[in-house]
Amino acid sequence: MLNLHYLQKSNIGVDQGLEWDTELKAYAQKLEDAAKALVARKDLESEYLGWMDLPYDTETLEGVRQVAAQFEHFTDLIVLGIGGSSLGGITILSALQHPYHNLKSDRDGLRVHFVDNVDGDVISGLLEVLDPKTTVVNVISKSGTTTETMSAYLACKVWLEAALGAEFTGRIVATTDPKKGILRPLAEKVGYPTLSVPPSVGGRFSVFTAVGLLPAVLGKIDVEGLLRGAARAQDEFLEPAAKNPHLQAALALHLYGLRGKNMVVFMPYSSRLRFLADWFAQLWAESLGKAVDKNGSEVHSGTTPVKTLGTTDQHSQVQLYREGPNDKLFIFVKVQNTGKNTPIPNAEPDQPDMNYLEGKTFGTLMNAELAATANALADAQKPSFMWTLERVDGENLGYLMQSLMLQTAVVGELLGINAFDQPGVELGKVLTYALMGRPGYEKLAAELEAAGVKA
Ligand code: PA5
Repeated sequence: MLNLHYLQKSNIGVDQGLEWDTELKAYAQKLEDAAKALVARKDLESEYLGWMDLPYDTETLEGVRQVAAQFEHFTDLIVLGIGGSSLGGITILSALQHPYHNLKSDRDGLRVHFVDNVDGDVISGLLEVLDPKTTVVNVISKSGTTTETMSAYLACKVWLEAALGAEFTGRIVATTDPKKGILRPLAEKVGYPTLSVPPSVGGRFSVFTAVGLLPAVLGKIDVEGLLRGAARAQDEFLEPAAKNPHLQAALALHLYGLRGKNMVVFMPYSSRLRFLADWFAQLWAESLGKAVDKNGSEVHSGTTPVKTLGTTDQHSQVQLYREGPNDKLFIFVKVQNTGKNTPIPNAEPDQPDMNYLEGKTFGTLMNAELAATANALADAQKPSFMWTLERVDGENLGYLMQSLMLQTAVVGELLGINAFDQPGVELGKVLTYALMGRPGYEKLAAELEAAGVKA
């Protein structure tokens, strides 16, 4: 089982001057200490490390299943959330449901629609095509205040109430902090079913809380497999650095950041994993982009995540990646076996420039393109490493997601920053409240007006 995933490091040292084995030996103790320090703090609520326990948390899953049971005969689920309150669910559903689940007539599991923007066309368009009588809405906001999510909630509430009258209260599930924010007391007052985001888990680390699990359960995803895979990554976390893929990946990410690779290009070669790149980008950027370190010294840390998809983006970005500035580290994700292993037929036997594909599968072609790109980049001294998943299933996805969270946390430790806050995002939220006239923000609104800032 341990061989399901491995970190292929053959291209890690192609950048001149980096001796991978020497660096790994030199950093081993530091990496192991960082892992131990993180685990030692995980029970302190204020450290936001509660996500390390989630893979083993059967009680939360049981609670989610109880709520989900009321809606299993529905057709559609609308998920309202943004950032950490939506990207995990989007990643899981797009990776593990049938690629055209929503178009299938014999589908098992609800159609899940994520609303993660305040685009009126998209919101009203969705409500136009769905039937409120067979739709459940899950409003997710840890803080219970985020403008984008609250505005979409208001639109959905009116839509449900207009169709169902007082019964609408049974059709909105609120997932939020157990105590803080306005969503919790509102939900309790109106009588919405509720689920909790634990206070010790930050938004972008919340995929294995009710935030990701309710959409997954209603979409009939193998959630036990997801958690089993995540637990396996977590179980490996305190292994010695020499055989610990999570610490080794963190080291590669850290070292190349120090060596001027200002960008991390995350490139899965699988359309099912397209949104894993989006989820990783948020996790990485919000966790590591910090103005000050834990001592308050100005550091402006962080490398920029770039989300891409192989092979599609070979035809838009690889020219730059190979011949442009050598300022990037590449992370590839390879899938050994695609679900159906679909063969490429020989439909043009007289065309030698096409019939060489006969007998090959789309999966073989995908992986040939990945090998070609990784080698072409290595040839141009561009460093990369690769995660290989035996297949895209719950267990492998859970493993990789937990691993990426662990890697991000370790890099935060090595940088000496707090990877679990997001002061830069909070300021934007507060300024939006002021611009939109939220009570309590009048002074800031006046300052913005004086400075000529308008909505
Ligand atoms: O990771 C984070 O903390 C953020 O991306 C949040 O998830 C995002 O801002 C949404 O916040 P909330 O769940 O409070 O609405």
